[in-house]
Amino acid sequence: MRANEVPTGQRRNTPAQDLELYIHIPFCKTKCKFCFYVSFVEVCEAEINAYLTALEQEIEFRWHGWKPRESIVNSLYIGGGTPSLLSLRQWSHLIRVLTRFWETREIPEVTVECNPSSIDEAKLRIWRAAGFNRISLGVQNLDGQLLQRFGREGTPGRFSHMVDLIRKNGFENINCDVLVGLPGETQRSVDATLDVLVRNKIPHISVYPFVLRNNTGVFADESLRRECLAYKTERMERFRSSTDYLLSHGYLRIGTAHFALDDKYVCIHHHKYWDGGNVLGFGVSAQSFIDGRYMKNISDLEQYIGRTPDNTQALSISLDSGDLIRRWALLGLSKRMMFRYSDLEARFGSGSVKYLQKELSELSKAGLVELNKDQVHLSWKGMEQIHLLSAVYFKFKNEEYLRRVMRIPEELQPFCPKKDVVDD
Ligand SMILES: C[S@@+](CC[C@H](N)C(=O)[O-])C[C@H]1O[C@@H](n2cnc3c(N)ncnc32)[C@H](O)[C@@H]1O
Ligand code: SF4
Repeated sequence: MRANEVPTGQRRNTPAQDLELYIHIPFCKTKCKFCFYVSFVEVCEAEINAYLTALEQEIEFRWHGWKPRESIVNSLYIGGGTPSLLSLRQWSHLIRVLTRFWETREIPEVTVECNPSSIDEAKLRIWRAAGFNRISLGVQNLDGQLLQRFGREGTPGRFSHMVDLIRKNGFENINCDVLVGLPGETQRSVDATLDVLVRNKIPHISVYPFVLRNNTGVFADESLRRECLAYKTERMERFRSSTDYLLSHGYLRIGTAHFALDDKYVCIHHHKYWDGGNVLGFGVSAQSFIDGRYMKNISDLEQYIGRTPDNTQALSISLDSGDLIRRWALLGLSKRMMFRYSDLEARFGSGSVKYLQKELSELSKAGLVELNKDQVHLSWKGMEQIHLLSAVYFKFKNEEYLRRVMRIPEELQPFCPKKDVVDD
């Protein structure tokens, strides 16, 4: 036996660790003005290829350190940006990279995020052959004029055809994202969108209330920004009516913004994350959470491609017990819309509630949570503005750096010290 090899008996006693994987593909055909995700448009083929090579180097570097832990990979989430935008050749390249490190066919859930305009049968086939089994489609709203207003290429007419094609190629587990609260939408267009999804029996639907962040086209456009800020009441109403609509059509609420026709469609990746599990993220702007350490990659594409893989992180902070307690509470609210003080104390020890008291009273004053003797509940306002709860995150000890690296939503400003927000 080599010196660093683990004896078999010892290995059996060491529980394998759960792990979720995330890969960021930061390319889009056009940039939607509402979108806060890190993505780039008009990137040439050579640069995308260079990105895939840099991604492979990052995975190799980080996986090398992680592999001896004998992890159980429950989920792989390929998000963006728009992963479906990669060409067939680039997909073959990416799949070669992924299968160098993982048996993708054996991972219980592999999701690929798609824009309906860039899916085709050939891509669906190679995804299926690689063991991918979940498709997440960005629908937003099926009103083409509304999408155009926000610079999003619209393909509403293709929706049902697209779903048929996805199903025909062996994908049963489909999510659709719906975005509500954009000025210019109507109750009718939101209802019509949900109606099409319900009629197509989409098993998992995410309804995201629009969040105005400072890295979006909307934020940069003074008049659109004002319009969006003035649209708060309607946004709340749309979120509420969408929730009612889905519940009355047989959907279960499985998260603050997530609905499913059956428990079996719960997204493993989201739920493991909300449970505070370990996540390894790769690519531009990807975040990781490993054993109480939070890490975030740089958001600049050229820098990511140009740097060595040991130098791609913009942030790496170890969370102290107060940070971990706040994170646990925030994720619990995202997952179950409530948490019990007794569960908190069972996990972190008696007296741990005191780490949250100040934040909870601020959130309660803002009407985002309701406090009672034994538990904390999200209010309706809190459900619609779940992102505001990340104010809790801003108490991390490396607060200043985190503030600069994260992009702070406009509505979060009351929770933050007044300073300019600088992008990394
Ligand atoms: C990475 S995108 C989805 C995949 C693909 N790029 C697409 O748009 O079709 C993830 C989702 O985030 C949501 N999203 C984007 N910008 C948002 C914002 N400002 N507020 C809330 N949700 C947003 C949209 O619903 C979008 O579908
Ligand atoms: S919503 Fe999707 S397509 Fe639009 S910019 Fe964001 S990631 Fe790209």
